[in-house]
Amino acid sequence: MTQRPQAQSGMEGIIAGWSAISEVDPSGDKLIYRGYDVRELAEKSSYEEVAYLIMMGALPDAKQLADFKEKLVEERIIPSELNDIFKRMPERASVMDRLRTAVSFLGLVDPDEGNDTHDANIRKAIRLVAKMPALIAGCYLGPKNKQIPAQNSKFPHAKNFLALLTGKEPDDYSAKIFDASLILYAEHGFNASTHGGANEQAMKMLLEIGEPAKAESWIRDALAKKKKIMGFGHRVYKIQDSRAPILKKMLKEYAEKMRNLKWLQIADTVERVMKEEKNLFPNVDFPCAVLYYELGISMEFYTPIFAAARMAGWCAHAIEQLDNNRLIRPECEYTGAHDQSYTPIDQRR
Ligand SMILES: CC(C)(COP(=O)(O)OP(=O)(O)OC[C@H]1O[C@@H](n2cnc3c(N)ncnc32)[C@H](O)[C@@H]1OP(=O)(O)O)[C@@H](O)C(=O)NCCC(=O)NCCS
Repeated sequence: MTQRPQAQSGMEGIIAGWSAISEVDPSGDKLIYRGYDVRELAEKSSYEEVAYLIMMGALPDAKQLADFKEKLVEERIIPSELNDIFKRMPERASVMDRLRTAVSFLGLVDPDEGNDTHDANIRKAIRLVAKMPALIAGCYLGPKNKQIPAQNSKFPHAKNFLALLTGKEPDDYSAKIFDASLILYAEHGFNASTHGGANEQAMKMLLEIGEPAKAESWIRDALAKKKKIMGFGHRVYKIQDSRAPILKKMLKEYAEKMRNLKWLQIADTVERVMKEEKNLFPNVDFPCAVLYYELGISMEFYTPIFAAARMAGWCAHAIEQLDNNRLIRPECEYTGAHDQSYTPIDQRR
C-alpha cells in the first residue's frame, strides 16, 4: 500500500511553491524583499519604490521611478460606477468587508479584464495599488452618503492616503512615518493573512487598559485568563519580528515630538510583561496600532490600510504564479468514516 502524505496542523512547515519575492532570513528574524532588508527600505525608501521593487523584481532607476509614480497618480481615480455601490454598502459591515466587495467590482470593469499576460497583470497590479486608498475612503464614506474628497496629485502615495483617512493635509513627517509602515506591511510570502485585524484589536486593548498605571495588572490578569494578546507572537518568527523594533523606534520619536507618551508607556508595559510571562515578542501590528492612533487614524481603517499596503505583495505573487502557472490543488487528509452501508430513510433511527 502506498504511504499517503500526511497533513500538518495549520500547514506549518509545508512548502507550497517557489517565490523570488521575499524571504524570512534563515536566521529567523530578518525579512527581505528581493534581497533587501526591509528595515533599510523602511528608513531610506518610499512605498512607491518598494512596490516597484516587489512587483517588477528590481529597484527602479530615477526615470523608471518617476514614470511609476506618475502612473500611480493617474490611476488613483476610481470608476464612477463605484460611487453608487459604496452608497448601498451596509454600515453594519466592516470597512474591510466592504473593501473586498469594492476590489471585486474593480476587477469587473478593469480594462484588462480577462487578459492574464504578464504586461496586463502588471497594469492591473498598478491600478489596484493606486486605487486602494480611494476605495477605502469610498467604502467608509459612501454608506454615510458622503463623497470621497479630492485627491491631491502633488502628494506621494502615503501622504495622499493619510490625507484621505484623516480628512486633513498631513505634515511631511507624519506622512514619512506612515509611508514606512506601508513599506513594512507590503509583502510577506505565502501567508494567507487570515488574522488580519490584530492591529485594530491591539489598539482596542490599549484603550481598554486606559492608563499606564493599570497596564501591568491588566495584562497579567488577561494572561491568567488565557487570553490571546493581539499584536504578539508569530507563526514564522520565533525570535523576533524585525519589523516591530524599527516601527517602534519611529513611533517613539513621533510620540516624543508630539509629547504624547501615554500609549507608548502602556504598550511598553504590555511588551515587558509578555516577554517575562510568555517569552513572546511584539509583531509588526503592535507598534503599528499605536502609531496609527497617534497619527489620528480611525481604528476601523487599520486592517484596510494593511490590505492596501499588502496589495503590492499579493499582486506580485499573482503575477509570479501566472507567469509560470500550474494549477494549485492541495489535498486534505480524510478523517471521516469508511465502509458505511446505506440505510433507506424509513429505516433510519
Ligand atoms: C500569530 C499567531 C496566530 C501565531 O500562532 P501559533 O503559530 O499557533 O503560535 P505558537 O504555536 O508559537 O504559540 C505558542 C504558545 O504561545 C501562545 N501564544 C501565542 N501567541 C500568543 C498571544 N498573542 N497571546 C497569548 N498567548 C500566545 C500560544 O497559545 C501557545 O501556547 P500553548 O503552547 O500553551 O498552546 C499567534 O501568536 C496569535 O494569535 N497572535 C495574536 C494575533 C496577532 O497578533 N496576529 C498578527 C500576526 S502578524
